[in-house]
Amino acid sequence: MRRSLPPTPMLFPTPVVLVTCVDEAEKPNIITLAWAGVVNSDPPMIGISIRPERYSHHCVRRSREFVVNLPSAEMVRKVDACGVLSGKETDKFAAMGWKPVPAQKVKTPLIDECPVQMECQVREIISLGSHDLFLGEIVALHVKEEIQKEKGRIDIPKALPLVFCPGANEYWNLGHCIGHYGFTKGKP
Ligand SMILES: Cc1cc2nc3c(=O)[nH]c(=O)nc-3n(C[C@H](O)[C@H](O)[C@H](O)COP(=O)(O)O)c2cc1C
Repeated sequence: MRRSLPPTPMLFPTPVVLVTCVDEAEKPNIITLAWAGVVNSDPPMIGISIRPERYSHHCVRRSREFVVNLPSAEMVRKVDACGVLSGKETDKFAAMGWKPVPAQKVKTPLIDECPVQMECQVREIISLGSHDLFLGEIVALHVKEEIQKEKGRIDIPKALPLVFCPGANEYWNLGHCIGHYGFTKGKP
């Protein structure tokens, strides 16, 4: 038996990311986003969807830049808090006790505590309805050495990825590796 439900984006899990941005005074803010994903490989691009009423929307639209910071699963409480508090009233860096560190190519700071950061410049903004899609080109990438293994690959158990499950409205961590790219073709 299958039950039909009203159409919603029932794609689970999704990444859950901490996007940093700056206002006109270059004061940094953080927004939690689940509507985020890879949209191109070359040039490397990420798409993030933000509702126009969010404080961060105004910041990203004005500055035309943002940083995608990947949290680890142990940061889940603060990830949720950044998704319920607004930068209009709260300095989220101070409230979370996180350290902003200068980026290389953009004015928006990175969250030092996150294992991965991608600095992005906005190439296109597409209004879709409830959300505006910001297509950002990744102009700099930072990965903490602690989560790297040979050949620059990511050591997933050390990175402790955090995902969000729309439909359940739950945060999950990952289980274990069950295969690698091309293993069915006998790739080593
Ligand atoms: C798990 C989670 C995922 C979220 N995903 C999105 C999203 O993809 N787009 C969006 O506009 N808001 C999303 N939000 C809501 C914003 O994070 C929230 O409204 C935040 O308080 C806005 O902060 P700001 O006012 O400082 O911009 C999400 C919140 C949570 C907790």
